[in-house]
Amino acid sequence: MVFYMPEHAGEPDALDMDHMSPKQIVAELDRYVIGQKKAKRAVAIALRNRMRRQRLPKDLADEVAPKNIIMIGPTGVGKTEIARRLARMTSSPFIKVEASKFTEVGYVGRDVESMIRDLTDMAVELVRREKAVEVRGQVEQNTEERLLQLLLPAPPAAAPSKAASDSTVPPVASDAAPAENARASYLRSKEKLRDKLRRGELEERPLEMEVAESGGLPSFKLWTNQGMEEMNFNMKDALGGLFGRGAKKRSRLKVSEAREQILKEEEEKLIDQGQVARIAVDRVEQSGIVFLDEIDKVAGRREGGHGPDVSREGVQRDLLPIVEGTLVNTKFGHVRTDHILFIASGAFHVSKPSDLIPELQGRFPIRVELDALGKEEFVRILSEPHASLTKQYIALMETEEVRLQFTEDGLDAIADCAVTVNEATENIGARRLQTIMERLLEDILFEGSELEDRNPVIDREFVNRMLTDIVEDRDLSRYIL
Ligand SMILES: Nc1ncnc2c1ncn2[C@@H]1O[C@H](COP(=O)(O)OP(=O)(O)OP(=O)(O)O)[C@@H](O)[C@H]1O
Ligand SMILES: [Mg+2]
Repeated sequence: MVFYMPEHAGEPDALDMDHMSPKQIVAELDRYVIGQKKAKRAVAIALRNRMRRQRLPKDLADEVAPKNIIMIGPTGVGKTEIARRLARMTSSPFIKVEASKFTEVGYVGRDVESMIRDLTDMAVELVRREKAVEVRGQVEQNTEERLLQLLLPAPPAAAPSKAASDSTVPPVASDAAPAENARASYLRSKEKLRDKLRRGELEERPLEMEVAESGGLPSFKLWTNQGMEEMNFNMKDALGGLFGRGAKKRSRLKVSEAREQILKEEEEKLIDQGQVARIAVDRVEQSGIVFLDEIDKVAGRREGGHGPDVSREGVQRDLLPIVEGTLVNTKFGHVRTDHILFIASGAFHVSKPSDLIPELQGRFPIRVELDALGKEEFVRILSEPHASLTKQYIALMETEEVRLQFTEDGLDAIADCAVTVNEATENIGARRLQTIMERLLEDILFEGSELEDRNPVIDREFVNRMLTDIVEDRDLSRYIL
């Protein structure tokens, strides 16, 4: 139900879409999503507006509500794809959830709020990583020092601890102080060891250290209308002490393993968790984005008075306060949702946006329609995007030294097939390209490095040979493509 995308957000090379102009955002989306100009523009404007709002005086800024968007379009035309790309481009907290999941029994009610909790978790992780980068140098230095201490414990009669961390103190040889001698030789050995450590020569060496006991806490879940995850963490907090949280045991580890452990511990020491939580909550409130996919699945109003429509409407009613602006209780504090941007999307082939309850409709003032895709778009989708299908297959085969090549008329023929099958059976948009490509290349994928011809060329002739029979037989293509 929930997609976290922290692996991309906050990356140093992650694009900072938040400082891009709408034109730049659209240009960036163009690299991955073909066509759908209107949707891209609407999204770009909404994102930019958040930045604009933040520059307003506070009293005015509080009044500017986000212009939530509904993207409407047939299946397989890029709605979710736009969301995926946005997630990777923004450094704002971003979460994509499927509205349909909230209809599940037991999930109606407060659990809709869990998306805000998840969003906050994500923001905390994001901020924590930023902080981690800030303290990186110090953390690494401390870790090295602790590793050295573990590998070479200081002599018992150690001099005042000031010298212990100050390796630049020149070794003083004095016959009056044998302890000083021992200390000097200790420091010398330590520096030698440090060199070795830095050269990576000690990675395998075993050492003993205290390791925090993890696990051990019996896990159980309570089902309450408060939302499960919240109960879970409360129980953990409450019982942590009881079950000896923070208990440590001595373990034997390799240097490389110990380093990971210590890095974590040192990082935790240097990062102010309270500050992280405060920044994260603020960021969620000011620039959080929730992508509500499959919103059409919860459209449908109660008329008869029972059946699935009841729970669908229930989900909408639960969504309403969150979209309108409310306080959601998270483990990091209350989060105000007034200025979170919601982008909803749905195919709406059975239901219509007007089947949503009126209050919710009003909360999504911007409607954009995505266009059905035709042959021309298919050709472009096959070849243009950054990791288009053809590029993927070429790269996959290259790992086995097969140089796959697609000609222009080959791409054209594939697109033709997609259009024909979409028309004859069900229109599943660009998803059709995936099934067709898989079928088309099946033999090549199967043979792989055992292929006789290491440079297979996919041209119109090849496509026709492989696919025409299937495409022309409606029943067959219904099953195969
Ligand atoms: N406009 C497009 N540009 C590039 N690729 C596209 C485009 N539309 C669809 N695709 C490809 O087709 C696949 C399916 O598209 P997507 O998941 O965005 O469909 P959707 O519009 O969300 O449909 P649904 O309503 O069924 O969820 C994507 O993985 C993507 O590779
Ligand atoms: Mg989708």
